[in-house]
Amino acid sequence: KKAVLAYSGGLDTSVILKWLGDTYGCEVVTFTADIGQGEELDSVRPKAQALGVKEIFVDDLREEFVRDFVYPMFRANAIYEGEYLLGTSIARPLIAKRQVEIAAQTGADAIAHGATGKGNDQVRFELSAYALNPDIRVIAPWREWDLNSREKLLAYAEQHGIEIEKKKGGGSPYSMDANALHISYEGGVLEDPWTPAEDDMWRWTVPPEAAPDQAQEVDLTFERGDIVAVDGEALTPYNVLARLNRIAGAHGIGRIDIVENRYVGMKSRGCYETPGGTLMLKAHRAIESITLDREACHLKDELMPRYAKLIYNGYWFAPEREMLQAAIDASQTHVNGVVRLRLYKGSVSVVGRDSANDSLFDAAVATFEDDAGAYDQKDAEGFIRLNALRLRLGRRRR
Ligand code: ARG
Ligand code: SIN
Repeated sequence: KKAVLAYSGGLDTSVILKWLGDTYGCEVVTFTADIGQGEELDSVRPKAQALGVKEIFVDDLREEFVRDFVYPMFRANAIYEGEYLLGTSIARPLIAKRQVEIAAQTGADAIAHGATGKGNDQVRFELSAYALNPDIRVIAPWREWDLNSREKLLAYAEQHGIEIEKKKGGGSPYSMDANALHISYEGGVLEDPWTPAEDDMWRWTVPPEAAPDQAQEVDLTFERGDIVAVDGEALTPYNVLARLNRIAGAHGIGRIDIVENRYVGMKSRGCYETPGGTLMLKAHRAIESITLDREACHLKDELMPRYAKLIYNGYWFAPEREMLQAAIDASQTHVNGVVRLRLYKGSVSVVGRDSANDSLFDAAVATFEDDAGAYDQKDAEGFIRLNALRLRLGRRRR
């Protein structure tokens, strides 16, 4: 029997690697993805080799992640519970997809992951895996073993000759997850929702008060709802996001501190930095503001919370998500043009929007000046009278 383990090279998944062999007597294939987390992955292969792994996969999925997961999600302007840009949620389906592919390729019958039994990630990994391979077996060691503390994990590592590298800076006191879209921080002092995040926790953004006194403008070019160029320079999806992370991070943009509702039922406090994503969302809404029909736009806004919840809860590969995606994608045909953003000390504002061929904005109609007959104000009289009719009938009856 064989299992494909989502392996980070860290302590937890190294322990899982050994534990799988000991507990299930199975051969382990490791899979590590570069999804833009910004970590050196060169050491992953030698580490896995040292633990006796023969089949080791280290894949660069950065472009696929942004092109096929992040971009489609941003077409919907997806936000969970009014704040969360779904940085972790959107990466899990891709990892599961690749894991299931590797299982097929290596003849493995199971996949294993290092998510706990208390969180969303287990649900996302497993719903995705079952949707793509109904017969796959899933092993979630955190739900099975009794290594439920740091000490026990370390002791297990010691006993089994797993090398524990002392991370520079002593490691992070938080449970973190990073990819091209965001970094998340949970646990540690954050477990008290009243305790503010420590200043040195944040890694991608400067504190807004330390951001430059000079505002910066950035132009984003959209094609069918996707950003294809930054300041006129054509870039691939991953490179767009990486560039925007740098620009927005330098201006202290994209930090949030929230308490969210996990799918498994508990409330959880988390801090997130999503600098590039924060610009993308703002700009996307701005280009839609001139290119989308009002009712199409409002319908999107009604569907959005449903769509965001599907992604949060792990239903990326579900028919209802695909249905909504088809509608969202269809709405983007005319979402073409340029948005100019201004970034200043933690905030981003739209200062201009333009669409050469797809704008529905008609200055002649909208003007406060003489419109030369573009709009007949008399039409408004009947429009209002008919809309008022039922209100008047209702008032009379009373
Ligand atoms: N609470 C966020 C979410 O559910 C972030 C989860 C972070 N995951 C992690 N393994 N640290 O999307
Ligand atoms: C975990 O429990 O593994 C991380 C948090 C989450 O999945 O929500």
